[in-house]
Amino acid sequence: MFPAHRPRRLRTTPAMRRLVSETTVEPRQLVLPMFVKEGARQPAEIKSMPGVHQHTRESLRKAAVEAVQAGVGGIMLFGVPAERDAVGSGATDPDGILNAALADLRAELGDSTVLMSDCCLDEFTDHGHCGVLTPDGAVDNDATLEVYGEMAVAQARAGAHVVGPSGMMDGQIGFIRTALDEAGFTDTGILAYSAKYASALYGPFRDAVESQLSGDRKTYQQDPANAREALREATLDLAEGADMVMVKPALPYLDVIKDVAALATVPVAAYQISGEYAMVEAAARNGWIDRERTVLETLTSIRRAGAAVVLTYWAVEAAGWLGARD
Ligand code: PBG
Repeated sequence: MFPAHRPRRLRTTPAMRRLVSETTVEPRQLVLPMFVKEGARQPAEIKSMPGVHQHTRESLRKAAVEAVQAGVGGIMLFGVPAERDAVGSGATDPDGILNAALADLRAELGDSTVLMSDCCLDEFTDHGHCGVLTPDGAVDNDATLEVYGEMAVAQARAGAHVVGPSGMMDGQIGFIRTALDEAGFTDTGILAYSAKYASALYGPFRDAVESQLSGDRKTYQQDPANAREALREATLDLAEGADMVMVKPALPYLDVIKDVAALATVPVAAYQISGEYAMVEAAARNGWIDRERTVLETLTSIRRAGAAVVLTYWAVEAAGWLGARD
């Protein structure tokens, strides 16, 4: 009898498919990135990210509570300052927007969620780079580390459970770990953006934080052509004390997620970034793809590649769909 093997037997009914499904996506595995804008009087939708807002401190608090109630595993907070300068002073100022909003959220939410904060200068500098510059305009790695150390301590003091260094400076994880420990924040974790690629897909995020960048980040973020380099970055971050390592963007880099997950003995995260979100939203708005099915397929694929944790702007909505399913 031909064919002797019939894999389709395991796909015959919804119950059968449910039984043999290899990958789950659960709300607790999803982290919601959120934006808060200094001085904003009302929340404003980001044009290139329909459904995502720059929050006021008040609307942030409310939306964060709703996200936690929806079952998401954590929140990653980004600040949009009213004023910027060459060294990103707003990032280390305890009254700077990101630190103030972190304190709001920690007071509101306590330990009921995992509160994370972007530990990077690009939102706060008037030139838009992720670090401070040398007199000739290059990003000064070691001078930037000093600021990251201060920034991480300010975020921990404000209430972050985990800081997320995303600037791709060499040595940032070790430097921040030491700074946190010396300030007594030995329990504050580090989610290292270990393999962060110089991607075209950050475009909508730069609208979201009103980035002042001209030029690119190719001297510090990775070349999309390189996979082995990601393993080197992750290995260094683990040696320097990272509690979790992240790959970013997610969908175009599933191979990298898989490689890093094979190597790491800590949870691996993946960031489904603004451009990934915008592409799906735009196609769905045109009626070209089914929005819910596409979102869930992308999340499933990122989990299948090996991500334990997924940062996604759909976290709350997906949690709703996933909760409603079983
Ligand atoms: C840097 C940072 C960026 C993102 C997260 N952290 C922007 C960049 O590197 O240019 C992008 C996230 C997204 O696109 O959704 N602070």
